[in-house]
Amino acid sequence: MSAKIIDGKAFAATVRTQVAEHVSRLKQDHGITPGLAVVLVGEDPASQVYVRSKGKQTTEVGMKSVEHKLEVDTSEPDLLAVIDQLNNDPDIHGILVQLPLPKHLDEDLVINSIDPAKDVDGFHISNVGLLGTGQKSMVPCTPLGCLMMLRDYHGSLSGMDAVVIGRSNIVGKPMAQLLLGDSCTVTIAHSRTKDLADVVRRADIVVAAVGRPEMVPGDWIKPGATVIDVGINRLDAPERGEGKTRLVGDVDYDSCAAVAGAITPVPGGVGPMTIACLLANTVTACCRANGLAEPEGLTA
Ligand code: GUN
Repeated sequence: MSAKIIDGKAFAATVRTQVAEHVSRLKQDHGITPGLAVVLVGEDPASQVYVRSKGKQTTEVGMKSVEHKLEVDTSEPDLLAVIDQLNNDPDIHGILVQLPLPKHLDEDLVINSIDPAKDVDGFHISNVGLLGTGQKSMVPCTPLGCLMMLRDYHGSLSGMDAVVIGRSNIVGKPMAQLLLGDSCTVTIAHSRTKDLADVVRRADIVVAAVGRPEMVPGDWIKPGATVIDVGINRLDAPERGEGKTRLVGDVDYDSCAAVAGAITPVPGGVGPMTIACLLANTVTACCRANGLAEPEGLTA
């Protein structure tokens, strides 16, 4: 058996098209342009790449994109002042503070200073609590993208056994909440889990989000299971030439694809869905802020 490849790149393109249609309607019918502000502190190269990509895709779907690039030694009060200004700006519907922040800044304090209604990352404790209690919230982008792909492939997830490997606040925990919300039986596994192989073998759905290259081998996968690989790990690839690298996920793709029913590739799986969901969350936040109906199919 060979798994169906879930094409996240193509799916993300359809999400962006839906977002663009909504943006266009908001402009035409209501004279509203959704606005997303991204705050970047310091010059982490990976963060700079993400932020540039977010800005480009935001304008491509017709939204307003604002970037605040702050010096690496920006003080906490100065950063909080920028967030306060964005919280009070009626043209800004989504605020994202790029993580990780420089060490001298308190990440929890900073994230929790964002207006929860504008927290398009879904990291504010209010949104975490709302998601955990099944109330309307902003949902973290990467788990939302995974959920969209799972729903698209399976239809209903009700009654399925799901194993999430990884317990981060950004992916593992919210992913588990979303799967529970769709009536899966959910296990969260992590570095201290006993008999991880046996736990994973029970799963109809495996979401791998640990940040360890190719750690899930194919013989852990139940035949026909759906494998969602959140990992993005860069490995040296001398066979491609000197200094070359390649991206791999948290699952060993070839051996898992030989057993799974469906699998997301790396790159081209979960990755492209994350920014698409950020755009979707911004439109959702804009609609809520203006008392308008939310876009269908773009929320949890
Ligand atoms: N850094 C890496 N991923 C993310 C993300 O999803 N949101 C934010 N704010 N920072 C990140």
